[in-house]
Amino acid sequence: MKLLLLNGPNLNFLGIREKGVYGTEDYGYLVRMMKEKAEREGHELDIYQSNYEGGLIDKIQEAYYNGTEGIIINPGAFTHYSYALRDALSSVEIPKVEVHISNVHKREEFRHTSVTAPVCDGQVLGLGLKGYALAMDYLTGCQL
Ligand code: DQA
Repeated sequence: MKLLLLNGPNLNFLGIREKGVYGTEDYGYLVRMMKEKAEREGHELDIYQSNYEGGLIDKIQEAYYNGTEGIIINPGAFTHYSYALRDALSSVEIPKVEVHISNVHKREEFRHTSVTAPVCDGQVLGLGLKGYALAMDYLTGCQL
């Protein structure tokens, strides 16, 4: 399958930012983990991170044209307020899973709302970096 993994603002700072919340593994580790998993399972995975809303929106629109069959997205803080990102996600009829490394429901009130989750197939949260792998398993139809 042709898959896309998107990470929003500050996720390039994994391993640097709030280690008690997001863990000690860095963004490079996440990229390697997901690339290796995709290769092992025979999938093509494009990985992109941006601190800019427009960069993520451009990638979602590109996915429409290039035949992407599944999107894994951690929109970072855009989750909580970006109607533009929500609109971009709902514009494309591609299966999508939203991932959060932390359990946002145990954190500040503003993190309890996701404007993007209602336009995704599902959401994985609070399971650390494993959540990305589980999202990929869902999209690739792995038997649980
Ligand atoms: C996050 C949770 C968001 O609230 C936060 O702004 C992030 C990361 C997570 O993966 O737990 O940047 O999406």
